[in-house]
Amino acid sequence: MSETVALEGLDLVVNEGEFFGLIGPNGAGKTTTIGMLTTRVIPTGGVAHVAGADVVRQSVTVRQRIGVVPQRPNPDRSLDAWENLIYHAAYFGVSRKEAARRAMVLMERLEIADKARMKVDQLSGGQQQRLMIARALIHEPTILFLDEPTVGLDPNARNSLWEILRDLHRQGRTIVMTTHYMPEADELSDRIALIDRGRLLALDTPENLKKQTSDGSLETFFIARSGRRSDT
Ligand SMILES: Nc1ncnc2c1ncn2[C@@H]1O[C@H](COP(=O)(O)OP(=O)(O)O)[C@@H](O)[C@H]1O
Ligand SMILES: [Mg+2]
Repeated sequence: MSETVALEGLDLVVNEGEFFGLIGPNGAGKTTTIGMLTTRVIPTGGVAHVAGADVVRQSVTVRQRIGVVPQRPNPDRSLDAWENLIYHAAYFGVSRKEAARRAMVLMERLEIADKARMKVDQLSGGQQQRLMIARALIHEPTILFLDEPTVGLDPNARNSLWEILRDLHRQGRTIVMTTHYMPEADELSDRIALIDRGRLLALDTPENLKKQTSDGSLETFFIARSGRRSDT
């Protein structure tokens, strides 16, 4: 029996206030990385600190300070969309009145206000994804983790998410986002890490990564540096 090593010797520092893009082929270890940093996955070795707290020993503190948009929407399906936001906010100690105010603003902004009283299963995939984004923001975390947040979003929804992320970044929030959509990584990130097989292959600004290619595109960089035969 062989064990899969999802991450190996991955050594990264994301700066405060930075928009950090994490890219890499399927199975590279992006979701595992996000999982460890967001206390969902317990590392078998190594250490990680998020907002000054140890992800294993101070996981409650870490959770208070982060918002997470998971790769697959995981709302509470017994609740409606609105309740998903309010309960999440209550869990983090936000008053009911303030939670309602924020939920309204977020749902308007993400264009799901008309879905507020619908059970989650009545929302489309893209609408559920937007609900996850609203949920990740409602306790106003200092650091936001998003794992392929724009998969399944139509171009309008994607644009409004980009605007929201740019605003949060301008306000000084730290954002860590994985994506397979290279224009998105290019457009939003201050720095980008390319990982594959759990290892860091490159880490630099989009500009510097693109300079390494003949045509100056991030897509070309990605393929050149992580290209492999389809044996995995
Ligand atoms: N729950 C799990 N149990 C065992 N192996 C897993 C699990 N989740 C992910 N892996 C493995 O870890 C590696 C990294 O996966 P993942 O972090 O999901 O990659 P990515 O998000 O970059 O596509 C893959 O080889 C995957 O098969
Ligand atoms: Mg993933």
